Amino acid sequence: MSINQGIKPITTEEKENLTIGGCDLKELAKKYGTPLYVIDEQTLRTICKEYKSAFSNYKNIKMMYASKALCTGAITRILDEEGFGFDTVSAGEIYTVYKAGVDMSHVLFNGNNKSASELELALNYKVGRFSVDNFHEAEMLNRIAAQKKVTADILLRITPGIECHTHNYIQTGQIDSKFGFDLSQIDDIISLIIERYKNLNIKGLHAHIGSQIFELQSYHDEVDILVREISRINNKFGLKLNEMNIGGGLGVKYTNNDTPPSIEELAKAVTDAMHKYSTEIPTIYIEPGRSIVSTAGVTLYTAGSSKTTSNGKKYVAVDGGMADNPRPSMYQAEYTAQVVNKINYTEKETVTIAGRYCESGDILISEISLPKLEAGDIICIFNTGAYNYSMASNYNRVEKPAMVLVNNSHSDIIVYRETLDNLISHDNIPDRLRKYD
Ligand code: LLP
Repeated sequence: MSINQGIKPITTEEKENLTIGGCDLKELAKKYGTPLYVIDEQTLRTICKEYKSAFSNYKNIKMMYASKALCTGAITRILDEEGFGFDTVSAGEIYTVYKAGVDMSHVLFNGNNKSASELELALNYKVGRFSVDNFHEAEMLNRIAAQKKVTADILLRITPGIECHTHNYIQTGQIDSKFGFDLSQIDDIISLIIERYKNLNIKGLHAHIGSQIFELQSYHDEVDILVREISRINNKFGLKLNEMNIGGGLGVKYTNNDTPPSIEELAKAVTDAMHKYSTEIPTIYIEPGRSIVSTAGVTLYTAGSSKTTSNGKKYVAVDGGMADNPRPSMYQAEYTAQVVNKINYTEKETVTIAGRYCESGDILISEISLPKLEAGDIICIFNTGAYNYSMASNYNRVEKPAMVLVNNSHSDIIVYRETLDNLISHDNIPDRLRKYD
């Protein structure tokens, strides 16, 4: 079984309390406070190795971790040590991987509206590839590269016209997507590059069909389209494009209702689709984000107030919610949980885990059967490694949680908890409004 097919980190154990990476989660909650993001290093490294070995029979493969799923200095170091490159989408992500010591030729810059200053920063840091998304960006990148007297190696992001069955907000490959060139625009952009944009060097094509994908057929179709387009372009324009980026998207198992394919199955679908073609085998880039970090991460919360409504619905509120995990309120995402300090309790009740934020929609899990909760109990929500911290906000002026890395019964802080002073550190009160000096 691949790690993305399990709900919990692989080191999870039920002892007196729940433990991960050999660390007692109740002790972690006491030491670092809650809410607390916990990342299991062994799960993270094991899944990286699974990706590497699953694709090992295809020699021209480049693994690029999609930083948007979770981007911090320590996480970047681990992915770099495991031999991954980085798919980045902002100056902030580029700066994070640069400061973490990554070889910038292993970095790709993606995004549908990169600013001139971001393109300039990426050229200064010598990122390896730009995935050019649209006509405006092509003109701008060429102009900035020409000013700097450099050439940018690019992929062209295309919209392959594939609809996969995932939440509408995280579908990207469909015809009316905001991302990439339509297939009907490719020849125009290539002609422009050949004739006028002399500081752009096209290496290949890029597509990304969506996220939390369970159907391998979508990848088959995507590879087919990319290979056909590359060979058509090479024939028509006399070019030698030999790189294709198939994006990310492999799903994970948040609850028992989710049935993602394994990483081996994904690798087989992609490489089988490739081997159908006898043409020269191009370099394939793959950009997984969620399936790399999601299962390695959990979030710990402390139970607080509770309420039973007149029609018998029971809410237990925790000290976090939609600001540290916006996925339930944004995508109706479902999660599962355990009570860290009540592992062997057999008496259960059905509760809704509510967040602390001032919105009725701030519900983390609706209707889950858990041991009877009391204030002070520690609740562990699984599979929160991806798109939780990276989409966290300071809604209600609440400090973002800390993050710890656990391994071999040891824990290290990798993101400090925000303080109240952090929260006001960017405020400015104009002199005429000041009460104190
Ligand atoms: N490559 C590109 C061009 C992408 O846009 C994405 C994700 C990835 C790779 C990584 O996809 P993954 O392997 O993580 O599925 N916030 C949403 C997910 C948005 C994904 C955006 N793009 C969520 O929480 O479900």
